[in-house]
Amino acid sequence: MDKLFKAGKCQDIPLGEGRKYLIHGEEIGVFNLGIEIVAISNRCPHAGGPLSDGIVTGHEVICPLHGRKVNLKSGCVANEKEKVKVYEVVLKDGEIYLKC
Ligand code: FES
Repeated sequence: MDKLFKAGKCQDIPLGEGRKYLIHGEEIGVFNLGIEIVAISNRCPHAGGPLSDGIVTGHEVICPLHGRKVNLKSGCVANEKEKVKVYEVVLKDGEIYLKC
């Protein structure tokens, strides 16, 4: 059963950027899309690129290593069969919680 884990504060992630959080040994990228905060596994399935360091365009992030586009809502990755895991985000009193 999934539990809620506190990641950080909403104000710590600027609009259109991502931040990395380590929860139970898992690197999770959390992104501020303006109208919502979304979270995915931070490792690109192509070669492990740190997705939270990528450039956000719309609801996609461009992997900083080789440029594959990762959909931040579905976890789908351009030119890859493997998806990245998408985490449910709960916002409460300005804090970000992730269901893991
Ligand atoms: S590691 Fe992400 S595109 Fe290569």
